[in-house]
Formats: sequence, structure tokens, C-alpha cells
Amino acid sequence: MKKIVFFLMATFLVACSDDKAATEAASSQVNEAAVVVPEKEVLAENSVEPVTEADVSVPFYGVAQNLQRFAEVTQINDKNVHSLKPAWVLSMGDNRGQSTQPIVIDGIMYATNHNSTFAIDAKTGRQLWKSMIEYPADTVTCCGITNRGVTYHDGVLYRATLDNHVLAMDPKNGTIIWDEVAADVKEGFSMTSAPLVANGVLITGMSGGEFGVRAFIDGRDPKTGELLWRFYTIPEPGEPGGDTWEGDDWKRGGGPTWLIGSYDKDLDLVYWGVGNAAPWNAAMHPGDNLYTNSIIAIRPTTGELVWHYQFTPNDPFDYDGVNDPMLIDIDIDGTPRKVLIQANRNGYFYVIDRVTGELLKANQYVDKLNWADGIDMETGRPIRAERVKNMIATGEQTEIWPSAFGGKNVAPMSFSPETGLAYANTFNIGWKYTPVQQEYKPGIFYIGMTFEWLLPDEPKGYLKAIEPTTGKTVWQFPSTIPMNGGTLVTKGNLVFSGAQTGELYAFNAKTGEKLWEFRTSSGIIAPPITYQLDGKQYIAVVSGIGGVYNAFSGDPKLKNVNAGGSIWVFDLGEGSNSTVAAETILPPVIKSAKADVVDDETTWSASVKHGAELYEQTCSHCHGVKMKTSGTTYDLRTFPEGQKERFMNSVSNGKGQMPAWGEKLSQEEISDLYDYVVH
Ligand code: HEC
Repeated sequence: MKKIVFFLMATFLVACSDDKAATEAASSQVNEAAVVVPEKEVLAENSVEPVTEADVSVPFYGVAQNLQRFAEVTQINDKNVHSLKPAWVLSMGDNRGQSTQPIVIDGIMYATNHNSTFAIDAKTGRQLWKSMIEYPADTVTCCGITNRGVTYHDGVLYRATLDNHVLAMDPKNGTIIWDEVAADVKEGFSMTSAPLVANGVLITGMSGGEFGVRAFIDGRDPKTGELLWRFYTIPEPGEPGGDTWEGDDWKRGGGPTWLIGSYDKDLDLVYWGVGNAAPWNAAMHPGDNLYTNSIIAIRPTTGELVWHYQFTPNDPFDYDGVNDPMLIDIDIDGTPRKVLIQANRNGYFYVIDRVTGELLKANQYVDKLNWADGIDMETGRPIRAERVKNMIATGEQTEIWPSAFGGKNVAPMSFSPETGLAYANTFNIGWKYTPVQQEYKPGIFYIGMTFEWLLPDEPKGYLKAIEPTTGKTVWQFPSTIPMNGGTLVTKGNLVFSGAQTGELYAFNAKTGEKLWEFRTSSGIIAPPITYQLDGKQYIAVVSGIGGVYNAFSGDPKLKNVNAGGSIWVFDLGEGSNSTVAAETILPPVIKSAKADVVDDETTWSASVKHGAELYEQTCSHCHGVKMKTSGTTYDLRTFPEGQKERFMNSVSNGKGQMPAWGEKLSQEEISDLYDYVVH
């Protein structure tokens, strides 16, 4: 076993040898011991439907609001996927982790990252517009700077930003319709998920559990951004569930709600996962700690709690409850049920009646699990293992499986009603865990423990096809570095999933046979999609390494994967229609707040005038004459007003690729430059 030592936010020591490039799981080695033939006859030959010409869009994050990520398209299928070829690729001009799932509406693809929103012609890859976001440099987030996507509703786009702005945007040009702030970054809040619109209400969650926030879910009027309701995931004393906390632990109780929920229109219920309590050290917050590590069912119009189920009371291990709450209709012990399924980070695969919240099934889906001795189906509570009880009582170090990465991390799974299987990127990593006492400070990582990863030689993860009611693996595809981008399953009997080393794979959904692969430009940590336009089916995925495993694992095998976001789109390659005549390619529109403002120089103050002179002499060769940049250097027209201190600092001391000016220009001169830049 190789070990990677990691203490809080400090740098990590890597004790592994640098093996050859990872994820070479070249053939679909199915671990025979783990293969279980499903009771259902899913191995029959798939009948591929005749090719349909109808356009197929991707209207939601999750493909549908049940989050099944199942696409009813068959043109690309298990018979012809081997001839899938790139149709177009578009750079996203950014080196942060790219977790976005694009949506496709009326032939236009909308995608996001931490600082941009893109609209792209989905057939040709031509960028129609790009809208940039400015956020304070001291914005904190766990784990990895990213954004997961945009939401479309009734002719408007919605997204959240790392500094907790909820934005409504015009899909035609990216202009902001309204901009509301949900929380203060200084307290450790951040936002990375696409919002959900249910019954006419725009719903968003919050990240920040690792910073001791008290998290919530907000419901807003999509037209105006007005806050209609706020549901705190940590109840106050006196409220239902308030007695599951001691003293004032609830005030910084965590319970982040940072991924998207699902929606059942018929039941008019929204299902949302709630994350772990803060800090991780469970001895620091005795009690069940509701509604942490739970799934909650709420009314979208009022935020009223209808039912809840808690997976892991008083969780020490960062298991969360935020993994995709997927809605499926299946037979349970011979009776058709409306259920919610979740591959929880704690290693159990849950099946819950989504009408009542009753726990129906909870089975282990990972190979190694030792924090619990099972789930008591009478009470619905996990049977805590002796080693965990002892660790909490004594503070002694313990070896625990799975680790904080969980049995499955945030990458969304998919479910095929055709095969009856859920397809999930799973992890095979444990950790040595030592509780420590830690004082709370706003905006500082608040976890109260130290740890070492336990990384098996290999594989460290599997793409698993899981039978939901038993948790049993029907087939699995091992990988040296866990895949953590999510999966897509299609009616063409295909499962698509990307590797952190950059390969996009296609598998036979029934057997797990690997049918196709293509290495994209960077690592994949985003879920693939498929859409059909003018009778042609496309597969798309965003590539760009980053995210939680990249930030925390210290895995040396990732070090040769280059950063850089781009959108890759594939088609069957018999002459793609991506060739666009040069004259039809217009430069992308970059929205900036002041770009279109007519500048009347006669109104300038003395300092603005002086600043303008200095600017043209010292700054214009990088930032553009009159600040009109072509877009490759920082656009000073978007520098936010009221951040003079940041300006003085960045310009005096330099930032990134920008040289320091403190020796060459006086503070007064830099101050005049500021006046000019924000005038
Ligand atoms: C050699 C090219 C170059 C020159 C000359 C230059 N800059 Fe920059 N500037 C950059 C680059 C590149 C960035 C982006 C830095 C980053 O975030 O990595 C930047 C960023 C900035 C920022 C944003 C900093 C922040 O806090 O995010 C400001 C403000 C700025 N420049 C002002 C100026 C001013 C004023 C001048 C003239 C005195 C100037 N720059 C001259 C290249 C240059």
C-alpha cells in the first residue's frame, strides 16, 4: 500500500514512485469475483430503433430533472460508436477545473466555468458570446475552483458565481437581467452548482461546509430575483431537529447544499442532499446533527420540509449526503415504487420511497467499507463500528474505508430504464484519521482532524454498473486514477464517461465492454452529454483537469496532465458539418460592463486625465489602447469599482504574468491610474 501524507491545508509529501502514464486500464478487465449476473434479463440483444430525425436538446443539468442522465437517442450506438470522431473543439481560455455540464437549447450550447459563461453554435462550435465574471481574489472554496453549469427557464439563463451572486442572463447576448447576492464570501460561503427551477421557483444551494458556515437553500422569483424563502439546513434551538445539536454548535454547523437537487413534478417535491457537519471531528458536535448528511424533500413554492432521511448521523468522515438524489420508478420486491436512489459517499447504495421518505434498501456498493457494520433497516440508522466509537471516545487514530472521497464522489451517475442499472464512478481509497481540536475562525478551513490517504497500488477506482436494489456490481471498469467526471447512458446501449487523464470512453451498457476511446486535451472531470440537430447525433464533454481529487490526493500520476479547459464534440465522422467558411466566423462577443459606454473626455477630472496619460505610456501595450483589449489580457474595463486596495496592491507588487510597478511609479501615480481605470 502506498501512502500519501496530508496535513490540513499544508503541502503534501508524496511517497509514490512515478509510474507510467495512468489510466492505462486498456482492456475492459472485469473483476470476475465482483461480477454478478442480474436477475433481470438485461443481456438480451439490444434492438436499435430506426434513426429518428427529430432534434434532441439537453434542457437541464442532469439531462432531465430526475437527474437520470439517460438520453433517448440511438443514432450513435454499440454497433457504430467505433467510428466516432471529433467534430469540433473550443478552448475555454482557462486553466481551472472544468466541471460544467453544457445544456443545449434550440441548437445553442450554453456552458460555464468559474469566470465565464459561453453560448456556442452546437453544430459548428462557433462561439456566439462569452460573458466574463469578476470575483474577489480572496474568495474561498472547497475543493477546487469550478462551476458545474447553467440553467435555462422560460427564455432566461441562470447561474451562480463563486462569490455567491445568483445571475439571470439574456441567452441572446449574456447581458445581466438581475444580480442578487446570496451570502458573504468572507464567512466561507461559495456557489458552484447550476440552479434548479421547480414549479416556477429558482432554487439554489450553498457550499462552505469546510468553513463552518450555517448553510441553506434559497427559493427566488426567477423574474425578479426576489428571495421567496430560505430553508436553513441546520435548525435553531426550539425548531424541529434543533435538539439534535448541543450548545451553540448549530451556529457553525455546516450542512452545505452545494450540488443540485432533483424534482418530481407530479408530487411537486424537490429533493436536495445536505452535506456534513462542521467540523469533521464528530466529538466536537455531539448529537445526530440534523439535517446534515441527509436527503430532504421540500415544497418548491414555500420551502416547507415534507420529509427527511439522515444517512450518517454525527458523521466524522465528510461523507455528506449531496450525491445526486436520482428519481427512478422500479419494482421493489414485486411492487412498482416511486423511489429516490443515491450512491452515498459512505459506501451504501440507498433506495428511498420518495413519496414518504421510507428507507427501502441500503446495500454496500464498494469493495471495502469498515466504518459501519450495516444499516439497521428497522431504524434506518447505520450500525456504527467499534473502531469509530473508540475513535470518537479516545481521539485515537483509526483506519477507515471509504475515505472522504467516498465510495462515489460528486461526479453524477446515470441510470438506464433499459438495463435497470445505475452507472457510477466509484473510489477505492481509504484513510488514516486522527481527530484534533480546532478553534473556529471565519473563512479558515475548519475540519478538526489530520489524515493520511491509504491509496491501494491499483485500481483506485471503478466505473461500476450497479443494480440499485441490491447494490451489486454487474460489471466494472477499473482505473489507476479514479474517474470522477460522471456518466451518461443512452438508448443506443452506450455508457460514456471521461478519465482524469483525458480519455473519453464509450462502453456497452449491458456488458461493460469498452467500445471506443479518444484522448482529449486535458483531464475530464465533467459529465458527458448527447444531443441531436438536423438529424445528426453528437456527443459532447468538457475537458480541463482540476477538482477535488486533483487538489487533495497528491496523486503523482496526475502531474503530467496539462490544465486547460476546452469543449470537445464528437459525431459519426462521415464528413462533419463543422467546416465553416472563414468569412462567416465572427469574432466572439465579450461582454464587459463598460465596453459599450461612450467616453466623454471633457468630463474627466485632473486625476483621470493624468491617469489616462500614464496608462497609454505604461499599460496600453498589454491592456490595449484606451483599455480596449482583444480579450487575451485582463480586461481592465471590467475591474470592479470600490476595490482600490486590490488595484494598488496588484499594480504595485505585480500579479501573475503582470510585472510590479511599485518601483517605477509613485503611489499617487498608481492612484491616478485607478481613477482612470474605474472612471
Ligand atoms: C507586460 C504586460 C502588462 C503590463 C505592461 C501591464 N499589465 Fe496589468 N496585467 C497583465 C496581466 C497578464 C494581468 C493578469 C494577471 C493575472 O491575474 O494573472 C494583469 C492584471 C492587471 C490588473 C488586475 C489585477 C487583479 O487584482 O486582478 C490590474 C488592475 C492591472 N493589470 C493594471 C495594470 C496597470 C495600471 C498597468 C500599467 C501601470 C498594467 N497593468 C500594465 C499584464 C500587464
